Amino acid sequence: MTALLELKGVSRHFEGLAALSDVDMTVPEGKIVGLIGPNGAGKTTLLNCVSGLDHPSDGGIYFRGKAIHRMPPYRITALGIARTYQNIRLFGEMTVLENILVAQHLSGRATVFDSLLLLPRHRREVRSFHERGMTLLERFRLAGSAELVASGLPYGDQRRLEMARALATGPQLLLLDEPTAGMNPVETRLFGEQVLRAREDGLTVLIVEHDMALIGQVCDEVYVLNFGQVIAHGTPDEIKNNPDVIEAYLGEDED
Ligand SMILES: Nc1ncnc2c1ncn2[C@@H]1O[C@H](COP(=O)(O)OP(=O)(O)OP(=O)(O)O)[C@@H](O)[C@H]1O
Ligand SMILES: [Mg+2]
Repeated sequence: MTALLELKGVSRHFEGLAALSDVDMTVPEGKIVGLIGPNGAGKTTLLNCVSGLDHPSDGGIYFRGKAIHRMPPYRITALGIARTYQNIRLFGEMTVLENILVAQHLSGRATVFDSLLLLPRHRREVRSFHERGMTLLERFRLAGSAELVASGLPYGDQRRLEMARALATGPQLLLLDEPTAGMNPVETRLFGEQVLRAREDGLTVLIVEHDMALIGQVCDEVYVLNFGQVIAHGTPDEIKNNPDVIEAYLGEDED
């Protein structure tokens, strides 16, 4: 099994706090890997380090064997890594379709000069962007809202648009940070089907999630973080019955 993404001894310290501490993780190509853990465990910090928003204090991150832990976000996007955010970050003033078009542009080949001169290559590309964008919106049941301003959408729709926008960059690895937060159980299950579909389409997914039903529905394997350290790794069933994991979550309830 080839590792698409590998973390080796990754640490991230904020002043005295170890948000991540010597984390080793392997995300195999074509799998859906879950990342769970109590609040403040370091899950978002890990996704930030993989996507280039933040950088490890120590250790290395490798995508197809290439070191990416010193790269800025735009280079990491260009390599084929896309993400969603725990706190939704859409272009709120733009329409739903424009959010998708901007993302597609990141992977487009027409240059600024092509677009200024309205060269045929650019016109062709704009047309195909538009068609592909609408297809993507249909898949996420957002086609009817294509011309609406993104910030006006109901919360669940904004979450789905975030995933659609991430897919629009044509990634190989998709990072999802609590993508179903605020969704009801039916919306969550439907979202899970979209994650499974991404895997069928050949993508690899690393998903941070609190909803254990969703983890069981989609994940091939799960890593558990607690206070920045990996305390367990296994199948969803193994994780659910792991005493260290149960204890970590019980500790959270006492807070
Ligand atoms: N920029 C920062 N500066 C200082 N401390 C930070 C920073 N970012 C995160 N932290 C701290 O690092 C720890 C891990 O935070 P992180 O957001 O990664 O946790 P998380 O597992 O995503 O939590 P949650 O489930 O609440 O989203 C927390 O103690 C947090 O306060
Ligand atoms: Mg988080």
